[in-house]
Amino acid sequence: EAAEKGGFEHFMMKEIHEQPKAILDTMNSKIKDGRIDLSDVGLSEEDIKGIDQIYIVACGSAYHTGVVTQYVMEDLARVPVRVELASEFRYRNPILNKDDLVIVVSQSGETADTLAGLRLAKEQGVKTMGIVNVVGSSIAREADNVFYTMAGPEISVATTKAYSAQLIAGYLLSVEFARVRGTITEEQYQGYITEMKTLPEKIDKIIEDKERIQWFASKQANARDIFFVGRGIDYAICMEGSLKLKEISYIHSEAYAAGELKHGTISLIEDGILVIGSLTQDSLYEKTISNMVECKSRGASLMGLTNFGNYSIEDTADFVVYVPKTDPHFAASLAVIPLQLLGYYVSVARGLDVDKPRNLAKSVTVE
Ligand code: G6P
Repeated sequence: EAAEKGGFEHFMMKEIHEQPKAILDTMNSKIKDGRIDLSDVGLSEEDIKGIDQIYIVACGSAYHTGVVTQYVMEDLARVPVRVELASEFRYRNPILNKDDLVIVVSQSGETADTLAGLRLAKEQGVKTMGIVNVVGSSIAREADNVFYTMAGPEISVATTKAYSAQLIAGYLLSVEFARVRGTITEEQYQGYITEMKTLPEKIDKIIEDKERIQWFASKQANARDIFFVGRGIDYAICMEGSLKLKEISYIHSEAYAAGELKHGTISLIEDGILVIGSLTQDSLYEKTISNMVECKSRGASLMGLTNFGNYSIEDTADFVVYVPKTDPHFAASLAVIPLQLLGYYVSVARGLDVDKPRNLAKSVTVE
């Protein structure tokens, strides 16, 4: 097993380091001569033009990538997107129309609820697509169209590289849908592809700085509750950061849309509680800063996660992690990395079984 871990102490850390390759391989499988080519997925331009609404159906972290894709797809391609937890979708008699596209997202391709959601959509005669990592899995076999993520085998229960590859799949689909549907210019299209290609190198840079996060994580080992707040894509980033932390460190944590704090959560803020603000979206930066200030005045200690250049955050936050700048649509790919590292190092600091957290399975194949 030591050999399989490639010199890392845990599979999770190995897989964190494999993320640049996972997303590069996923991009390379769909970008030919500088243009996105979905022909192996089986979606034609006619199909893309005819879609009225997209449902994204998934569980766990795969669901979180769906939330990111919803923001990106709606903003770029102006197609309405609904994101659904598969376990809810399958039992609530969803209203599906013939021009809808149901996208199910699953690393394993075997998650029982996601598979049931796919079958339900097919029974209703709706076009379906799987974003799947495991070749030949049930979802890959049953979906009308398959977009394979190229993350390779993932061992750690807490997903990292498959999550990152799913995000890339969402970006590629969004940018291509936007081009086909005429909601972005050729220049913007080229710009998005160029920017996407810079992500692997930027992720490498973030990982290089992991010791700083390790230091911060060691101080959180005895935390009781940790809150994550953000708006828009940052809210989606918070959902994943919070799940990573709780699943492997067993520390209670929640992700809140920053604007919702006032509607209840802020009553939970007490002296010394850590609030992590994600602020990668410059248009929402000031709004989330003011929510963080409100938490601070109630005794919270603050960690800020933002882009290089936003140094005014140091006036508010006690600890700041900067990530390289990218197009705001792709920010989740960078901001999630420090949060994966935080979860990892808190788990290690608590002496827990990082790769095999209690009560959890890599793939949930029964209800
Ligand atoms: C389990 C795993 C998660 C994963 C979820 C969905 O809960 O621990 O990491 O996100 O299942 O799995 P899937 O294989 O469908 O992506």
